[in-house]
Amino acid sequence: MKILAIETSCDETAASIVENGTTIITNVVASSQKFHAKTGGIIPENAARQQLISIIPVLKEALGENMTKGVDALAVTVGPGLIGSLLVGVETARTLSCLWSKPIIPVNHVRAHLYANWIKPLNNKEEPLFPLIGLVVSGGHTDLVLLKNHNSIQLLGSTRDDAAGEAFDKIARILGLPYPGGPAIAEYADKFMSNNSDNRLTLFPRPMHDEDNFDWSFSGLKTAVSRYMSQAHPSKELNIEMIAAEVQEAIVDSLIKKTINAINLHKPKSFLISGGVAANSRLKEKFEHALKSIEFSGQFFAPEPKLCTDNAAAIASCAFFVHKTNSWKDIIANPQLTITESV
Ligand code: KG4
Ligand code: ZN
Repeated sequence: MKILAIETSCDETAASIVENGTTIITNVVASSQKFHAKTGGIIPENAARQQLISIIPVLKEALGENMTKGVDALAVTVGPGLIGSLLVGVETARTLSCLWSKPIIPVNHVRAHLYANWIKPLNNKEEPLFPLIGLVVSGGHTDLVLLKNHNSIQLLGSTRDDAAGEAFDKIARILGLPYPGGPAIAEYADKFMSNNSDNRLTLFPRPMHDEDNFDWSFSGLKTAVSRYMSQAHPSKELNIEMIAAEVQEAIVDSLIKKTINAINLHKPKSFLISGGVAANSRLKEKFEHALKSIEFSGQFFAPEPKLCTDNAAAIASCAFFVHKTNSWKDIIANPQLTITESV
């Protein structure tokens, strides 16, 4: 079954055709990140306007000459996200569904991030096995979930305030680094780490670290970095690479501690990370290390970086495995959707 998916929840305009949830036929992503870098972050009206500009060129590229490419169904992100951005994708998908008389599948964006781990090649691994634990770490969400099968999802924990990616973005701004902050902080941190690999990075707090739950809090980290910056002696040059490494380590350590506790408790057959922050190589490296230290016998999956950040291939895969077809008349955007809600 070939599904054409459309993703426009935030600042990426994406379209992809995926066969049977695992094989990419085309995958096109246009990002308006450079545009938002000028304002240091996303202004929702600007994001929606950029979606309008990009949606038709992106669809044309994904579909090529043969406009329907044997597509069996459409899929579209209905939420969560920015309402103006979501509407561009939803209305486009509804129009195509009506025009081509093809069914349409509404998709939960946060849940779909996990499905980047079903897309081939899987680096010689079988597809993820259930029960599995999934960690979605993106700009808007930090959710830890337990899946017994494609249709049984339980929220184990999430952030009480800022998402992990949001923390990277906000702290990058404080450090004078460009938007999006995650890749910028990672680049500076990597430079520091390559010369100081023995350093113990414990400058900033890991809130809620020792609490007996699977929740996080990242907003205090932003305050700690602001305070550190303002208390620095004016004559002393700030070492931004060192601060970036400390920030990255604090976020990574927090994510790993709670997740490993959940893996120890639930003993899943697979563990999956996904979302923009899953592109962070320090996070992957430290997860590999932590999983080895608890002798995790299951498989660890992390998508390649371009499938960690927003894309439509994961939407198509999630549509194939999880969601049900619908009539275009019943598809509506829901900006507040949570990871466990059905659509
Ligand atoms: O999944 P995504 O593309 O969009 C949302 O659904 O939010 O995630 C974007 C987030 C941004 O906060 C960005 O700073 C972060 O992912 N990000 C990273 C890296 N690449 C992107 N964070 C840390 N390290 C990275 N390499
Ligand atoms: Zn996302």
